[in-house]
Amino acid sequence: MVRSCTYLIVAVVLSLNSINAKAQQVAAVQISGERRVNFDGNWRFYKGDAPGAESPGFEDSHWRLLRLPHDWAIEGPFDEAFNASTGGLPVSGTGWYRKSFLLPESAKGRLFTIMFDGAMSNSTVWLNGEELGGRPYGYSSFFFNLTPHLHFGSEPNVIAVRLQPEPNASRWYPGAGIYRNVWLDITAPVHVAEWGTYVTTPEVTNEKATVSVKTDVRNQSEKDANIMVRQTVLDHAGKTVAKVSGESTAVSSDATRTIPATLTIPHPHRWDMDDPYLYTVVTEVLEGDRVIDKYTTTFGIRTIAFNPKEGFLLNGKPRKIHGVCLHLDEGPLGTAVNWRAKQRELEILKAAGVNGLRTSHNPPAPEMLELCDRMGIVVMDEVFDMWKIPKVANGYSKYFDEWSERDLRDMARRDRNHPSIIMWSIGNEIPEQKSADGWKIAKQLTDWFHEEDPTRPTTSAMNEWADAIRTHFADYVDLKGFNYSPMHYEQIMKEHPDWVVFGSETESCVSSRGEYHLPLLAYEKPPSHQVNSYDTVAPVWAYCPDVEFTYQDKLPSVFGEFVWTGFDYLGEPTPYWEWRTTHEHDWPARSSYFGFVDLAGFPKDRYYLYQSEWTKKPMVHLVPQNWNLQGHEGETWPVMAYTNADEVELFLNGKSLGRKKRLVDTWTMPVGTKVSEDGKFVTKYRLVWEVPYQPGTLKAVAYSGGKQVAEQEVRTAGAPARIKLIADRSLIHADGDDLSYVTVRIEDKDGNLCPTADNLVHFNVTGAGDIAGVGNGNAATTEPFQANHRNAFNGLALLILRSRTEPGRIHVVATSEGLAEAQIEVRTEPFAAAKK
Ligand code: GAL
Repeated sequence: MVRSCTYLIVAVVLSLNSINAKAQQVAAVQISGERRVNFDGNWRFYKGDAPGAESPGFEDSHWRLLRLPHDWAIEGPFDEAFNASTGGLPVSGTGWYRKSFLLPESAKGRLFTIMFDGAMSNSTVWLNGEELGGRPYGYSSFFFNLTPHLHFGSEPNVIAVRLQPEPNASRWYPGAGIYRNVWLDITAPVHVAEWGTYVTTPEVTNEKATVSVKTDVRNQSEKDANIMVRQTVLDHAGKTVAKVSGESTAVSSDATRTIPATLTIPHPHRWDMDDPYLYTVVTEVLEGDRVIDKYTTTFGIRTIAFNPKEGFLLNGKPRKIHGVCLHLDEGPLGTAVNWRAKQRELEILKAAGVNGLRTSHNPPAPEMLELCDRMGIVVMDEVFDMWKIPKVANGYSKYFDEWSERDLRDMARRDRNHPSIIMWSIGNEIPEQKSADGWKIAKQLTDWFHEEDPTRPTTSAMNEWADAIRTHFADYVDLKGFNYSPMHYEQIMKEHPDWVVFGSETESCVSSRGEYHLPLLAYEKPPSHQVNSYDTVAPVWAYCPDVEFTYQDKLPSVFGEFVWTGFDYLGEPTPYWEWRTTHEHDWPARSSYFGFVDLAGFPKDRYYLYQSEWTKKPMVHLVPQNWNLQGHEGETWPVMAYTNADEVELFLNGKSLGRKKRLVDTWTMPVGTKVSEDGKFVTKYRLVWEVPYQPGTLKAVAYSGGKQVAEQEVRTAGAPARIKLIADRSLIHADGDDLSYVTVRIEDKDGNLCPTADNLVHFNVTGAGDIAGVGNGNAATTEPFQANHRNAFNGLALLILRSRTEPGRIHVVATSEGLAEAQIEVRTEPFAAAKK
């Protein structure tokens, strides 16, 4: 439970640094008996190289003091000189972090391990001037034993971390810095190794579940040890449901021994998408009667199975995966890991019916997996975007030979207890699909995953389906994931009747929230850099959602899809970036248009198209959401309704324009040639009327079984008159980390959203919180994310508030020239009171 242990444990005591001439404040780690201590506080940061900064006496008092996680690149500024494909932000260069800390004499004899959940990238770590090692891959979690080089008492310890992310190392925005959490694990020298438990449930029936716990006990003392391991399984309420004590076992000095245990849980409560029930196993290492180490592992009891007829079965029931691919950034906050940012992201996606996540294309933050466990979202955990053949000049291919086994095995060991993970992906769109011997690497990676975890299948996201089959690459993954190939599923399955097939990456439709123009298919050229939101536009390799829906509905054994992408992400601003070599005017397009939610977390129209296909709670959504088409009077505009109801009646200014039935009435939409040679595709997933524009009110009324079940209106708005602020949570934790996301709406005097308003709004934030970031979902602006002002984009902007550690009230006043101001208050309370 990352959140609950994080801030309670580290008590910071200030004392004087005896070796630093300019007396500096050094934090002491309080040894509380807890195994894991959050180690994010009191780091000094310097952007640039700082020769000698690894040595303990180095003078760093002028460096910036900050709290991790930290992404230096999101601080900007945006610059065209940085590649737009990585967000036009400074993601390369050198950065240093240093942290000084004291350890009490009484802690001598304990073992200290530092865990970096991830550092971007090419890290080198020193403790008290001794080089401990490093990690090229910025997505891997890694750890070091600090003990041999530690000082106890009044002499401070100094951890120094140098990061050297290279330019042209990524196809998306990777961020830069120690962007994930850092932990200090304090254990006995004989202890459960890091990622040292492996919990599986080999037998699950309604009557009982057999739980197998394999525990790696590591002896880092100088003497051989005799220990005993006790396993206790707790249910969700913390009640003991099974317990077992092992035999006394010898573990030699400097050795690791795997100690198996089996427990039986009567009437197990399954982990499922709709009921993500979690158990915990507490592993205790005892020496005699004394508990010397305690390690907790969260797990779930569920069965997964895959077969060519039914696809994916969770707890024996076939389930379709309505999944999304996500990159790692949290829009205006960059890549710096924040629990609430990720939780909000998944909440928004879940409301569209999302039940699956692909961690494209790298090991995710551990928090993301913990959230998926808790929220019932199944995960395709992906390890690499490239192997030996590079996709970018300084990509992972430089490190593949030396590091791939380590990175892969570490990910599997770190992640394999998460019930949410149902498959391991060995790579995305790997160019080796086309090579004659690419299958050898595929086999190797699959074997490593199977060695670490025989309970889950492997897959790969294959974009060259014919080549991957011809070269036998596809034979060496268990599940056949195909990217952008729904029109070939049937043929593939016919030729390979024993294969289990799914859409590992689908759609890549592009749009900008709130942008509407004709003709439907055209990208709007610069200078606006905005893509039509009628959900018909996609690059040449891609297509709109209707196409995937059509093929998947025809072939129920295709077990689902992972849409590219759920949220927009920084970097890869296709279509304005792929033109980069030929178009001079793509800048400032700097983030993706692929998301069905924009970079600020505001749903685009496409969100509701997925919702109409993936959810049952009655809904109807109109496109366009802008009925302020002044100057276009009398022109015919398509009006679309996305609904999960049986039929919809459309009204313009009270006059019915007729009813249309979902899955019966069709519309012929324009598509790219990848989908059909004549550029036309018949969809039954959206209801479309051709409407001559006249200002007023568009109204959609949805019916199921003859009864009205939902409705929506879009009105022609008047002039911008006022600001409205809406906080997603008005009570948050006073932990210095929790966030309240405030939607800023520009409204007319009657409360209608002004759908093209771009007013500049200033925020005056006082009291118990600060501005964590601002945004508006516009993919083509160089306005900073860290500011106290933001222009609206098509009527909306976002203000993100962060709590401080002192409880109180955060007061926001939003002002804009010519508009009535708005105020809002968010309360912050200590952890227990605000209940996460
Ligand atoms: C895919 C690739 C993704 C992203 C996407 C954009 O081919 O796997 O990483 O680049 O295209 O459409």
